Amino acid sequence: MSTTIPVSEVQRKKVTTLTLRQKKERSEPITMLTAYDYPTALILDRVGVDAILVGDSLGMVVLGYTNTLPVTMEEMLHHCRAVARGASYALLVGDMPFLSYQVSVEEAVRNAGRFLQQGGMDAVKLEGGRERLEAIRAIVSAGIPVMGHLGLTPQSVHQLGGFRPQGRTAWAARRLLEDALLLEEAGCFSLVLESVPARLAELISQRLSIPTIGIGAGRACDGQVLVTHDLLGLFDRFTPRFVKKYTDLYGEMQRAFSEYVADVQARRFPGAEHELEMPEEEWQAFLRAG
Ligand code: KIV
Repeated sequence: MSTTIPVSEVQRKKVTTLTLRQKKERSEPITMLTAYDYPTALILDRVGVDAILVGDSLGMVVLGYTNTLPVTMEEMLHHCRAVARGASYALLVGDMPFLSYQVSVEEAVRNAGRFLQQGGMDAVKLEGGRERLEAIRAIVSAGIPVMGHLGLTPQSVHQLGGFRPQGRTAWAARRLLEDALLLEEAGCFSLVLESVPARLAELISQRLSIPTIGIGAGRACDGQVLVTHDLLGLFDRFTPRFVKKYTDLYGEMQRAFSEYVADVQARRFPGAEHELEMPEEEWQAFLRAG
């Protein structure tokens, strides 16, 4: 089977946090997608995506949890290692799971370090604003690049009252802008803005020197990220309004699996072309030997 993957000749240098910063300065859009396994990371890397996020969305789209809260450090590291084996060029960002950075600054630094040391990541991402500054400063001081995440922060789903858009009142928008400025000041190299009004994301992107990566945050962010399973149409439960589905892998897989089941049941698979041959003389010798 030969599949031709368009390998981007342009991007053959390892992407770093500096690359993202330079892209913002040149007004070149930054691309980021999530991956949780080796083959997806391999393909994303080969098509030239700038950054791969091993998101804790893993919990919902791969592990089948109802939200991201049950995801553990061990689960994240397991998937980070698989992604790191597949990607050589993209900047690799590991998402710190719930309670891996909220309990104490020491735990936050140690867990962030594990993403680099044991997970093969280049950077970590964590959710939250002003309440996370101490942890962010400590992680950055340890030499670990941190991507912030504001707006809809799924680890706070219960506090937010569901997966709801954020920053839609004057007060909430002001607070979000303040948090964004504080995260930049604390040393974040980039900032994810999730599910916030496009004009607020635009203003924040203009006010920050670090690149913003939007998901449901409009066109004016410095980059865009989507959960890969949403883009592929592979998540069965819901598709947020801001997602563009590029294909219907769920339907495609369903079709392929159903065909396989029907083929085996009707003895159409395996066919002669899938069978292994054995030299006739060996077969006769085998029969003679009884
Ligand atoms: O976990 C994740 O995939 C994320 C993205 C939605 C940004 O945090």
